[in-house]
Amino acid sequence: MSALLRRYWHPIAGASEFDDKAIKPIRLFGEDLVLFKTLSGAYGLVQRRCAHRGADLSFGFAEEAGIRCVYHGWQYDAAGLCTDRPFEATANRAGSTAPLRITAYPVREKGGMLWAYMGPAPAPELPDWETFSWPNCFAQVVIAEVPCNWLQCQENTVDPVHFEWTHNNAPQRQAGDFGAFSPKTLELRVEDHPYGLISRPSREGTDPSTPLWSVGRAILWPNGWYFGHHFEWKVPIDDTHTLFVTWATLRVPRECEPYVQQRIPTWYAPIKDSDGNWISSHVGNQDIVVWASQGAIADRTHEALGASDRGVALLRRRLLEDLEAVGNGRDPRAVIRDPARNVRIELPCVAREELMNGLPREQMLEHPLMGPFLREFYLIAGQPDEVKAEFERAMTVRGSRVTIHKFVPQ
Ligand code: FES
Ligand SMILES: [Fe+2]
Repeated sequence: MSALLRRYWHPIAGASEFDDKAIKPIRLFGEDLVLFKTLSGAYGLVQRRCAHRGADLSFGFAEEAGIRCVYHGWQYDAAGLCTDRPFEATANRAGSTAPLRITAYPVREKGGMLWAYMGPAPAPELPDWETFSWPNCFAQVVIAEVPCNWLQCQENTVDPVHFEWTHNNAPQRQAGDFGAFSPKTLELRVEDHPYGLISRPSREGTDPSTPLWSVGRAILWPNGWYFGHHFEWKVPIDDTHTLFVTWATLRVPRECEPYVQQRIPTWYAPIKDSDGNWISSHVGNQDIVVWASQGAIADRTHEALGASDRGVALLRRRLLEDLEAVGNGRDPRAVIRDPARNVRIELPCVAREELMNGLPREQMLEHPLMGPFLREFYLIAGQPDEVKAEFERAMTVRGSRVTIHKFVPQ
């Protein structure tokens, strides 16, 4: 499966993490690596062990054009080429000129995130999703480390029935509310889409014109999900750990335009509280709990799949087809090779007009998607106070006395 996933770019960190540091150890696809930013502002991702005698490059330091090992000063550029072996050069030994290379992967910045490509050359296009370019928006990057395999996290994207249970009925009962359950899912469709799949759930009390049914939600291949106001990706750290990366955005109220965000903040979300209990107060945390509860790697041999798993079955079939394609030397689905096609790609989005073009603040508060987002960051627990304050400054109409109150999402 790694051979398939490596055919795509993956978000691995926030660029703002490098505002006050230059080097970060990171584990991806079971490899221990170092992500670094040179003094000239370029990013690199290389193996963590120095080629000389194996010291840890995460203890090293950034140079104008690379990273230097703290043990004997060997320097590597972003392509992994050893560009300086100081004593070898001084001693003028033959080894000082023999080229030496360590494992390195390309890194690009987009949407305030750093993306890595860890597959065979040539790298495909890094998708230019249109949402990254929406103006007048406040975006933030949220990352959580989940102790289970990435695939069970991604199977959640094609499983709309879980919404009513994991996010509605269960929290309601657990809070002691024994009233009626939330509207049932009556039908679900999961279909192919050029960039992955589309899921279309239909719930009690809605009709076919409901955007969730008529437009649907895009599942981005192979490990992403798009909601309009946020993206999610599940990036393998190794077989039993996953980086759950969320990129959330909200256009400021019309009255606050023009707005230019100076810096997209990145924060890391805890998954357990100080007593060691799983956090389940926020939507993303409720998901994390069920994913991890399936086991480090969900055992598919003991499942009892049913009608609610139609999407899960389709996702698995498509992954198996892609594994075969990769095995036969072909590109898997949704790999973008043509730069001309990779320009502000529009994705299906249930409230695209409003999210992209904005609304006056009072109308935002009434909007089913924007209102809850404006009131509270309900996706994942742990938003730092400074990010919350920055968000509120961006969203508050100058001179207005309106404050943002806590809100429980429906
Ligand atoms: S171990 Fe890195 S320079 Fe010697
Ligand atoms: Fe969920």
